[in-house]
Amino acid sequence: MNKIKPANQRVAWKALAAHSKQFNKLHLRKLFADDPKRGDRFTAEGAGLFLDYSKNRLTEKTLKLLLQLARESDLRARMDAMFSGEKINLTENRAVLHVALRAPGDATILVDGKNVVPEVQAVLDKMSAFSNRVRAGEWRGHSGKPILNVINIGIGGSDLGPVMAYEALRHYSNRGMTFRFVSNVDGIDFVEAVHGLDPAETLFIVSSKTFTTLETMTNAETARSWLLNGLGGDKTAVAKHFVAVSTNAEKVSAFGIDTANMFGFWDWVGGRYSMDSAIGLSTMLAIGPDHFRAMLHGFHQMDEHFRTAPFEKNLPVLMGLLALWYTDFFDAQTIAVLPYEQYLKRFPAYLQQLTMESNGKSVTLEGRRVNYDTGPIFWGEPGTNGQHSFYQLIHQGTRLIPCDFIAFGHALTPLGRHHDMLLANVFAQAEALAFGKTPDQVKAEGTPDWLVPHRVFEGNRPSNTILAQRLTPEILGALVALYEHSVFTQGIIWNINSFDQWGVELGKALAQRIIPELESDAEPKLKHDTSTNNLIRRYRKMKKSK
Ligand code: F6P
Repeated sequence: MNKIKPANQRVAWKALAAHSKQFNKLHLRKLFADDPKRGDRFTAEGAGLFLDYSKNRLTEKTLKLLLQLARESDLRARMDAMFSGEKINLTENRAVLHVALRAPGDATILVDGKNVVPEVQAVLDKMSAFSNRVRAGEWRGHSGKPILNVINIGIGGSDLGPVMAYEALRHYSNRGMTFRFVSNVDGIDFVEAVHGLDPAETLFIVSSKTFTTLETMTNAETARSWLLNGLGGDKTAVAKHFVAVSTNAEKVSAFGIDTANMFGFWDWVGGRYSMDSAIGLSTMLAIGPDHFRAMLHGFHQMDEHFRTAPFEKNLPVLMGLLALWYTDFFDAQTIAVLPYEQYLKRFPAYLQQLTMESNGKSVTLEGRRVNYDTGPIFWGEPGTNGQHSFYQLIHQGTRLIPCDFIAFGHALTPLGRHHDMLLANVFAQAEALAFGKTPDQVKAEGTPDWLVPHRVFEGNRPSNTILAQRLTPEILGALVALYEHSVFTQGIIWNINSFDQWGVELGKALAQRIIPELESDAEPKLKHDTSTNNLIRRYRKMKKSK
């Protein structure tokens, strides 16, 4: 591959480094005071989302340099490479084509010379037919009862997307059915998920790209025993109560699930990019095929926006550049994502895998150690709850924490004055963070001198505000795609591989080695470090004593 210049050696990066110094003195108060149009100027719209990024530490010049950095990093060419199915995931020699999952049926996207769109559509049709049968009570359990409970067993991308989407779109879900999610190998997760459920009415979806993941396979085995115990031990019951979502037909069949009841996807769909593949089967069962297709349409709208909008009006590009701006030029360690929408309560958790498993990398595509910061830590909670917990630190702490506020024009179930109050809070928070309260303002309120420093708000704390009309399946798709492509934008500039996850391997391998050391009857010969050896011995003792 061509030798790529390190990101921080690019002309625009160096210019940004110099330019960033002026923000030591430049306050958002002044930026707004000097430009009466600022609140209109730094906004962009696409795929039903409105982005106000005016409350960021940036000027026209900053924006110009950030956009120049994107161009110098060949962002356009790299986007085209992704959209056209090039194998941009170099370390796994794979294409990165989650965009094909939501492409229209008549699109052509080639992987190794083969159009993948018809296969995607065929799986969607199979999912739809299955979902319709279950939802209509036509798919019956082993004892003839309709399925009323659906439990998705999966972890990481095979869990976080489905849970997040179920919670986000609950308003559209079939309320006559119960949906639960099991991910953790901690048995309590399973115990609680099946609590109170009748096995005869329960369907398990075993969701695993590889169908080898320890947590998922352990939970799937436990689920099979639970089901068989509950239904009198007849093994043929498995066929009516288990379906699989995987790329690994062999393993699915070895587990005992008929591959006729398997919904496939492909190695070019990364786990954290898979909620719109068959991994979303639980979502489709909850909201129905039409709403699921609407969600895919929303994803596609944002894909098209990302692919075609000029960078200066391109939401994912702008958000990606802003995340990088604070990470690399202001030493910001984290970004808070703060949805003012209770249905998005799992959105920050979902984003954590998307952003941090993607961009938590410290070597370039060529394998050289980077000498600049990459992926920031993403975290968050829905507003207004966060306001009464950690916002104190965002307002007055010593760290710079850029925030993404997300809010909607309408509540899905309007209730008195609640929504106006909710929105008043989100606007107030962004305003308070940006403008703060000066010592003079605090004094003018009659505050005694000794108390003034405690009550001052520095302000100049950046945020984005994302608004949409209401939380529909389309908008959820657009919102997820916005962050997917923002992550991509950052990864391209940092010249890292946003699509592998080797960092999860070591712990998995060590756990496999330790499991027999915990379970063996005979005292094992431990060859770890002294700390790990001691912990293992102590645990073995704890197990023996009541
Ligand atoms: O351990 C990380 C990971 O590989 C994620 O990338 C993935 O989403 C998750 O595990 C689950 O993998 P699978 O779908 O193969 O069970």
